[in-house]
Amino acid sequence: MYKIFSQAKVDQRIDHDFLKIIKNFAPDNILVLTGKNSFKNSESRNFLISEFQEYYEKVYFYSDFENNPNIQDLNRALKKLASKNFKLIVACGGGSVIDFAKLLKVYLYKEKSISNFPDEFENPTESEISLIAIPTTAGTGSEATHFSVLYDKNIKYSIASKSMTPEYSILNPSLCVGANFKVKSSCIIDAFSQAIESYWSVNANRTSIEFAKKSIILINKHIDNFRHVHNDEDVIRDILLGAHYSGKAINESKTTAAHALSYSITSLFNIPHGHAVGMSLGEFFVINELSASVNSINCNDLSSHLKRMKSLRKLLGWGDPDSCNTKWKSIMKKLGLNIQIKVDENYKNIIERLVNSVNIERLNNNPVSLSKENIADLYKNIIVK
Ligand SMILES: [Fe+2]
Repeated sequence: MYKIFSQAKVDQRIDHDFLKIIKNFAPDNILVLTGKNSFKNSESRNFLISEFQEYYEKVYFYSDFENNPNIQDLNRALKKLASKNFKLIVACGGGSVIDFAKLLKVYLYKEKSISNFPDEFENPTESEISLIAIPTTAGTGSEATHFSVLYDKNIKYSIASKSMTPEYSILNPSLCVGANFKVKSSCIIDAFSQAIESYWSVNANRTSIEFAKKSIILINKHIDNFRHVHNDEDVIRDILLGAHYSGKAINESKTTAAHALSYSITSLFNIPHGHAVGMSLGEFFVINELSASVNSINCNDLSSHLKRMKSLRKLLGWGDPDSCNTKWKSIMKKLGLNIQIKVDENYKNIIERLVNSVNIERLNNNPVSLSKENIADLYKNIIVK
């Protein structure tokens, strides 16, 4: 069984089934976005075919975009899809598929092509197309956020707009159990990191902390044993929900330093997003608590920040800040995710390149500010000769 979440209601599962929702939109045509290869012969395909029976002639499948969609992918889609009258998009896939659907939600019929990106780019403000997101990787939480990602010449740009948030999310664990363990491992670490970073983010508020707590409890329950239970549908149900809540949490608070450091690792070494985030996250249990001082914090109130760090550690049950760091690294190891990358040459250049391409916006959400030297040291823990 699957659950449907509505964006309009803050944290509410709704009773309607998928078909009823489609009927409410009464679409002339439905654009269905999927991954290129992962969709063929998948459980997701069977699910959509059975759910769409009545609407099958109205459905148009599209998957002509890269894993990390770029500006050319978007412009090609705007051109190819311009003549169809889509009022509804269904995105069924991993984070990239859902992110790409969010871009089409705001750009299709608004722009013939996006020129002069990123120089003259402005975040879009409205959309007349509705979006239903169906994550299949358990999960990234992208179905619950108003952010998307677009690459141009290997540089990642974050695009934010309230009108990109999917109207509905369908969480169906049976579509995710079949994903391979590596994909699931990276996704679970992404979701877990998002919830943890949201908890300590300078933008955290009561709502985001509640979502982060729910996410952490659901994921922490299974993380130690995940390698052995990742094919269990009940486990994936919890993880999918945990990832959804992590999306809800960062939708308010945004992510922090571990995400800020991760993007250039992904671009330079082709390491999956969650895996790259997890490489540095453990260190921030120590930095964000033991290096926090009146002079180093980015938030207003040191004592409430420290209280929050303590309550996070209590929630996780992993002991003091150093033990949390050790525990995080042991989780990465159990999931088969290396926390170091060995390079043979250009070591200095690589570190310099990484330091210079850190995402400053996400870095400023971190409760403790980091100097260039701190960032270089963090990268030196990861990149080894
Ligand atoms: Fe993430």
